[in-house]
Amino acid sequence: MSGKGGVGKTTVSVNLAFTLAKMGYKTGIIDVDFHGPNVPLMAGTEGVLARGTEGAIEPVQSPVHENVNVLSISSFMGDPEAPIIWRGPMKIGAIKQFFNEAKWEDRDVIVIDCPPGTGDEPLSVAQELKNADGVVIVTSPQDVALLDSRKSINFAKQLHLPVLGVVENLSGFHCPHCSEEINIFKKGGGEKAAKEMEVPFLGRIPITPAFVDSGDNGKPLVIESPDDYSSTVFADIAKTITDGWESK
Ligand SMILES: Nc1ncnc2c1ncn2[C@@H]1O[C@H](COP(=O)(O)OP(=O)(O)OP(=O)(O)O)[C@@H](O)[C@H]1O
Ligand SMILES: [Mg+2]
Ligand SMILES: [Zn+2]
Repeated sequence: MSGKGGVGKTTVSVNLAFTLAKMGYKTGIIDVDFHGPNVPLMAGTEGVLARGTEGAIEPVQSPVHENVNVLSISSFMGDPEAPIIWRGPMKIGAIKQFFNEAKWEDRDVIVIDCPPGTGDEPLSVAQELKNADGVVIVTSPQDVALLDSRKSINFAKQLHLPVLGVVENLSGFHCPHCSEEINIFKKGGGEKAAKEMEVPFLGRIPITPAFVDSGDNGKPLVIESPDDYSSTVFADIAKTITDGWESK
């Protein structure tokens, strides 16, 4: 989740999912963003329709990694440019179908990419999932984004969803010319907000121009450039999360 739009939720969801896949976990990604379903583009399944029958929908296999499959509203739409014009109840119905009528039995872990804010979609996700491991909050370092991420943390707390932690994305930029660090959107606010709200801080992902290309090409950075600094941050975040499962 995130409070604000455009802070990198989908980038984090997809790269986290592929990192878990590389670790050997069979990973599903459910895209519950109906107005901006970007997961298929970033996970390489854009344009591929889900198969199966009612009650037994087959999530779309990612061509990028054998351990990842994807379900998104765009897995059911012929035209990726057609806007979805739906009210809340239709979206809630679709979320229920994604969860209950698709074949997820063989998955070890499912990552769910929400639209920004605390509206119908994250609410019905929270209600559908009785035993979720928890929520990852993505924020950028500016104060406005941080204010909104506090709302997301409180939303999770009110719904009794554990908060796995906060990821600060777009956090600093290493100049490729002189390697000096430039803090375009400030830095460190996510960690401060996590501390104040008493939830874990998971890591800081710098502005990484390669994310844009890899996202647009459907080849996640953690697969394309596993040695990139940001890929190593994802490995650390994934390890923190999976260590939490083992200690349960
Ligand atoms: N760390 C980063 N460095 C550079 N570009 C990034 C980074 N994180 C995300 N981006 C780019 O920013 C854009 C928005 O990211 P993304 O779509 O993941 O955000 P979002 O929070 O899911 O947006 P929305 O609220 O619309 O769902 C994308 O083009 C993505 O490639
Ligand atoms: Mg998104
Ligand atoms: Zn420089």
